[in-house]
Amino acid sequence: MISNFYMPTRVVAGQGSLATIGNMARDLKMTRVLVVSDPVISTQPFHAAALEALDSAGIHIARFDECGIDARCSHIDTQGDRVRRERIDGVVCIGGGSVMCTGKGIAIVATNEKPMAECTGVGKFNRKALPMIMVPTTAGSGSEVSQWTIVKDEERHLKLLGGGPLSFPDAAILDPVTLRSLPMRVAALPAVDALTHGVEAYLSGIGSHITDALALAAVRVQFGSLRASINSDDETARENNLVASCMANIACGNARLGHGHALSLPLEGHLDLPHPYGVGVLLPHVIAFNLPVLPAKVKPLAEALEVDTTGLSRAETIAACADAIRSLYADIGFPERFTPEQLPPARIREMAQLAVPGLYAGIEARGFDPSTAGDHTVIACPSARKMTVAQAQAIFERCLEAA
Ligand SMILES: [Fe+2]
Repeated sequence: MISNFYMPTRVVAGQGSLATIGNMARDLKMTRVLVVSDPVISTQPFHAAALEALDSAGIHIARFDECGIDARCSHIDTQGDRVRRERIDGVVCIGGGSVMCTGKGIAIVATNEKPMAECTGVGKFNRKALPMIMVPTTAGSGSEVSQWTIVKDEERHLKLLGGGPLSFPDAAILDPVTLRSLPMRVAALPAVDALTHGVEAYLSGIGSHITDALALAAVRVQFGSLRASINSDDETARENNLVASCMANIACGNARLGHGHALSLPLEGHLDLPHPYGVGVLLPHVIAFNLPVLPAKVKPLAEALEVDTTGLSRAETIAACADAIRSLYADIGFPERFTPEQLPPARIREMAQLAVPGLYAGIEARGFDPSTAGDHTVIACPSARKMTVAQAQAIFERCLEAA
């Protein structure tokens, strides 16, 4: 099989690295930047320090601090117009996944001069996005090294993914100072998303030795440092989280994401479930579903999840991998199940049908009629094992079961 690996983003990591942002902007020939953030992050001392470093480098700064839980098409389209009008030549994102997805969307529509919804799908635009610098403030989405942006089309209640080789960020700065102010519960959510990215990249049917190596290392480092980073002030563990989420996304950017993300998408779009809850609750089930068809990967994944495999059969090892995730959730205060309010039982069948177009369908998912999907319809997904609507429905049901 032919594999392809591409990741052009420069990654600068370590304590103090945020101070390099001014020089980095200059290296990228930025003169007028839009700094994208949210109402909380934009009040943090490290945000002020980043603006000062940009200012000291002679960069003109415009700001958009209004990002919310999701990257919204309406924000992106409005700010894209503004960027063109104000002749802004670079985008700096300081925030979590939704901030980086918003900024990436703005960088895409600014040069491609069409609405964000029309840029969704794989490679649906022709011009390179504006230069981007990403400063993640959660160890999670990995959007700082990803060509993809996940945006919400508010009118149609759809989450859409867009991107291609022309929308990679130019640089990412991973400084653990940005994680210091995060409350424990908030930090756990993106970290679980990052763990999911690593596992799903490893369980992909289109991965390679390169993506497998990155994905497995990302899972090992993330799993090994999550408890310490969330339950204590361990700065090294937080730096490890940032680097691991970055590695996981480099892996899944090339091997793609799997069933956790494909099944979570309708829950996020139609039931407003936050992304990390969707993919995180699904993760143990995704492992149990896919790992049986990847026998050579069972032991390496188990070891990355710190499972003692001595004396365990393959089936027992797979079950132990799913249990290792659940035990981590218990320790970091992350839920193992959906509540009936988050996923109403009466809507499970519809959600399984709505998952059929998959994560990468983009705007074409708008025209999909879920009632055309039967029990045996396969969900579009690069994961190693094919999943039907009936199987997705069964997984959703298990995600609701009482302990
Ligand atoms: Fe994700």
